[in-house]
Amino acid sequence: MNYKLTLLLAFIVFGAQAQKLSEAQIASKVDSLVAIMTIAEKVGQTNMYNGTWEFTGPVPADDNNQLKADNIKKGYVGGMLNVLTAKGTREAQKMAVENSRLGIPLIFGYDVIHGYKTMLPVPIAQSASWDFEGAKRGAALAAQETGASGVHWTFSPMIDVSWDARWGRIMEGAGEDSYLTSVMAKAWIEGYQGDDLSDPLTIAACAKHFAGYAFAEAGRDYNTADVSPQTLYNVILPPFEAAVNAGAATFMNSFNEISGVPATGDKYLQREILKGRWGFDGFMVSDWGSIGELLTHGFAEDSAHAGELAFNAGSDMDMEARIYEFELEQLVASGKVDMSTLDDAVKRILSVKYRLGLFEDPYKYCDDKREKELVYTAETKKIARDVAKSTLVLLKNENNLLPLSKNIKSIAVIGQLAGSKDIPLGNWRAQAIANSAVSVEEGIKNAVSKKTKVQFAQGYTLTTGNRDFVHELTFEDDQGEGFEEAINLARTSEVVVLTVGEDCYQTGEGRSQADISLKGKQLELFNELIKVNKNVVVVLMNGRPLAIPELAEKASAILETWFSGSEAGNAIADVLFGDYNPSGKLPVTFPDNVGQEPLHYDRKSTGRPVTNAFDNGLVFWSHYTDSPNEGTYPFGFGLSYSEFNYSDLNVQSVENGKVKVEVLISNTSKTPGKETVQVYIRDRVASLTQPIKRLVDFKQVEVAAGGQQKVTFELTKEDLGFYNNQYEFVVEDGAFDIMVGTNSMDLMKETINLTF
Ligand code: NOJ
Repeated sequence: MNYKLTLLLAFIVFGAQAQKLSEAQIASKVDSLVAIMTIAEKVGQTNMYNGTWEFTGPVPADDNNQLKADNIKKGYVGGMLNVLTAKGTREAQKMAVENSRLGIPLIFGYDVIHGYKTMLPVPIAQSASWDFEGAKRGAALAAQETGASGVHWTFSPMIDVSWDARWGRIMEGAGEDSYLTSVMAKAWIEGYQGDDLSDPLTIAACAKHFAGYAFAEAGRDYNTADVSPQTLYNVILPPFEAAVNAGAATFMNSFNEISGVPATGDKYLQREILKGRWGFDGFMVSDWGSIGELLTHGFAEDSAHAGELAFNAGSDMDMEARIYEFELEQLVASGKVDMSTLDDAVKRILSVKYRLGLFEDPYKYCDDKREKELVYTAETKKIARDVAKSTLVLLKNENNLLPLSKNIKSIAVIGQLAGSKDIPLGNWRAQAIANSAVSVEEGIKNAVSKKTKVQFAQGYTLTTGNRDFVHELTFEDDQGEGFEEAINLARTSEVVVLTVGEDCYQTGEGRSQADISLKGKQLELFNELIKVNKNVVVVLMNGRPLAIPELAEKASAILETWFSGSEAGNAIADVLFGDYNPSGKLPVTFPDNVGQEPLHYDRKSTGRPVTNAFDNGLVFWSHYTDSPNEGTYPFGFGLSYSEFNYSDLNVQSVENGKVKVEVLISNTSKTPGKETVQVYIRDRVASLTQPIKRLVDFKQVEVAAGGQQKVTFELTKEDLGFYNNQYEFVVEDGAFDIMVGTNSMDLMKETINLTF
């Protein structure tokens, strides 16, 4: 290349970028760059590789890695995943920037699902906080550690609304409700991306999986999703639209087919809705190999056809199917893919790289010193503990057994999960150090006074050995000697803290379960312990709603703690001993039994809802002959050490079809506390039947001991209307129930007639 051309290219690509570029400046730089790119270079931007080797050493001498390395050097690769550390990403970036003709930087992505090295609670737990600022703070922390480790992009948040506790990935999302998921989507995206994406301590978010992935039939991962337009438009899509509005830099599509069309090849979803109707200007990455799976779905004849379908449908970047790499150039040459479609994808990808500041300085994220200073420190652990406390949900507290006194004489801490320093880290744990969490046992020991005797007994063994990437977990069914030791300890202790639930590898990708009750001997041990001690506090650790009716009936107290991350034990002790007054609320219904799944509170009336006639023994109502309809704990449920009383509900229609809702919250206890006030609506008669209740708003209020607080909401047409089957938003005149309360079952109600 001659000297002048080199200079010209350098100017176009990098320019002089002293400060953040405006969108117009980015657009013009991207246009100039695309204008000088060859087809092969353009295709390269759509190609994403998994970084399978250690970039700080030589490329391993197998053909595949050699090809990948050569292609990076030629500028035929747009992004990589799983390349980590400031040092590693610098080396990989150098290969691209210093060798390729245009020196276009790579974008590095990684699954930072709930923290990079400092583990935050799993996403479903964060959603249980119903705390926008807390979730945002957690995501900002994850971004700080990720950015400081050289990585620009997280494949998070997962905002698939899930109604099915069998689905293992329910742990990765915000639960069963579309509105709550939309709120969390915004919090997570704003947390990751901050105000300036080019700040190396912020990273690009990726809203996934677009769309319908959680509606896998029977809760089995990757299974077919067959959803009605009503569910698609009103339940599945709103969080994704919220993600676009929050500025999500990228999207990921999904493995599943949705009503006959695999999402990766779905033009209606990706081009018409996402990029058209919603005006999304970032790029869409495929899920791992999902372009190739168009063949196994029976949707594409061969790889070339799969590439054509996916690309034309709007999948801009190919994650490891290696199909665009080998087919796209020919597809453009043969006219099956328009050059303008290719240019559009490339411009989207390059724009995100510009927004990240990578053209300004491709190495700006690669700073060893910053990595050392900002990752996994006392400060990051403190934030993790704060976030974790707010995610714990008090499900039962008979006779105010909790909070416990720190001066209690003796506590028996029982259960494999209580002793584990690994399980609380959760699945999808990025760079967490194995066995680095504060266990429940340690947290309790840290909290109590010197006088208190804390003793541990394992009791049951749930799982042993290596559980990650094991396709079928083995649950121990042998009660062994553990039972005797635990029972003896329980007998002689003042209080028992029994931790039961799931191994963290029971949830996550590919971890669906047909049985969601307690595995192994956990329930049997519980039943033995309550025979010898009246004060059994159950600490639940799990990533999905569990069927635990027996625990709910017999335990004195139950605290849901999910997998709460690096500081789990300390955060749990904060709640057990009253340093933090629990404020979490369930983002998912806890079923009575697995047969009720999929189960969600915002269901329809049916023509035969259960009524009093049912109580009188009649048969022909929508019910089970061997199970209740309701779950054990409803959506939105969570107790506090305070007592909140709701009164003075006042619902008024104000101008423009708006509704003003007021309610008085009184804290009748001696403990100050935080309450999440929830508003649900029901459109009584509509042209499409509506859910019997649907969350439309909530607020968190701190109420002083003995204090009162008036809480006001304003509902608008956006809250009161719905999408019809043509994806038009309609608001229909008539009667609406407006319901306000502490959870989805315990509600005050007023009915109001509205004309819009
Ligand atoms: C497959 C998962 O479905 C997706 O969520 C993840 O981001 C990719 N693998 C990359 O690891």
